[in-house]
Amino acid sequence: MNGMLKTGIFKIRLTQFRSYESLSLNLPSEFCPIVLTGHNGAGKTNVLEAISFLTAGRGLRAARLSDVARRVKNKVPDGIEILPMRWAVSASVNVNGNVFDIGTGTVDGTDRRQIRIDGKNISKQAELARVFRCLWLTPAQDRLFCGDPASRRRFLDRLVQVFDPAHADRLSDYSAAFKQWSCLLREGRIDTVWLTSLEEQMATLGVAIAAERLDMVARLMIYLRANVIDYFPQAEITLTGVVEQALTEKSAVYVEEEFAAYLKKMRHVYADGGSVQGPHTADFKVFHRQKNLSGELCSTGEQKALLISIILSQMAVQMKEQGMCPVLLFDEAAVHLDARRRKVLFEVLADLPAQVWMTGTEESAFKDLSQKAHFLTVEESIVNDLKVA
Ligand SMILES: Nc1ncnc2c1ncn2[C@@H]1O[C@H](COP(=O)(O)OP(=O)(O)OP(=O)(O)O)[C@@H](O)[C@H]1O
Ligand SMILES: [Mg+2]
Repeated sequence: MNGMLKTGIFKIRLTQFRSYESLSLNLPSEFCPIVLTGHNGAGKTNVLEAISFLTAGRGLRAARLSDVARRVKNKVPDGIEILPMRWAVSASVNVNGNVFDIGTGTVDGTDRRQIRIDGKNISKQAELARVFRCLWLTPAQDRLFCGDPASRRRFLDRLVQVFDPAHADRLSDYSAAFKQWSCLLREGRIDTVWLTSLEEQMATLGVAIAAERLDMVARLMIYLRANVIDYFPQAEITLTGVVEQALTEKSAVYVEEEFAAYLKKMRHVYADGGSVQGPHTADFKVFHRQKNLSGELCSTGEQKALLISIILSQMAVQMKEQGMCPVLLFDEAAVHLDARRRKVLFEVLADLPAQVWMTGTEESAFKDLSQKAHFLTVEESIVNDLKVA
């Protein structure tokens, strides 16, 4: 694509990860789309999940790290036991012409995650997000518009984070400050100096988080309004958080002071078991412009198409502003989409300057990619090149 350098994984190895005792894959360095097909339970999503651990966060299933370690049948009669084992994912990636070796995993089945970049231990996950960025769409997100706000926030924050990895640091610092503030109040430790300092931190970080979300939505809306992808709907995104709303009317400095004052005023309410609003309760709504309908009233396929429109706009923003794209993981890529939309989607994906991983149970759903993608079959957690009959 316009001589733009490509981003992707050219080698990946899974060790004791979910159903994989060991898997080693070498992938085409031109970073064409990768299609994994196989029966239910074959191990397709597990490969995508392993890739999602190459960036910050808890992967595409938001899993506990100990659940990821491979469970093996033990000698105890009929028993399945988690042995205290390590799991690891390591990969060689090419990000816009720069090659990195990334390794991550746990120590003895604990919830402590280790990260190495080019052999050096990394303590902050956001450093990983700076090196390798990836975005995903999974069947669990099929009903994102009808589900809980926390999943929508995670979806939105991942869009922001792949654009600006510093967002991951701000989110974790905000959540750490909120946790401390919450503990002090709920345990009745009214240390005014400490509480005030935490409220100031939450206000500064909270306003920065909200401003980044607003900024990302504004950037996305430029492409969404232009409706550049045929057959995909025009999505209108509106952020509904209190801080986000205030920022559309007042200056950041003013909102920071206002939010800190609000938290101070709410101390006793929160100490008594009440709740407070902030970037941790923000939400967004999506509207289908052509149908004049809010996202949750759209059909399953329309909802998936709205999410794809948003993700493709994100790709357009990143190509234009950063000259690169995150790696995309599309679990069950073809499901819910009609043949016309699938064809258009695959054309766009094959042309992106980043590797796109897709899964499905049927190869036939990906026939439009037969000349452009690298096909792999997965059977009982063994991955092979697809043999063309
Ligand atoms: N920690 C674990 N240890 C061992 N096996 C696991 C672990 N977690 C999940 N599995 C198993 O891994 C297998 C493959 O799961 P995966 O989700 O990758 O299947 P899939 O090919 O995506 O199937 P589907 O088409 O149904 O989505 C499943 O049988 C699942 O039970
Ligand atoms: Mg799956």
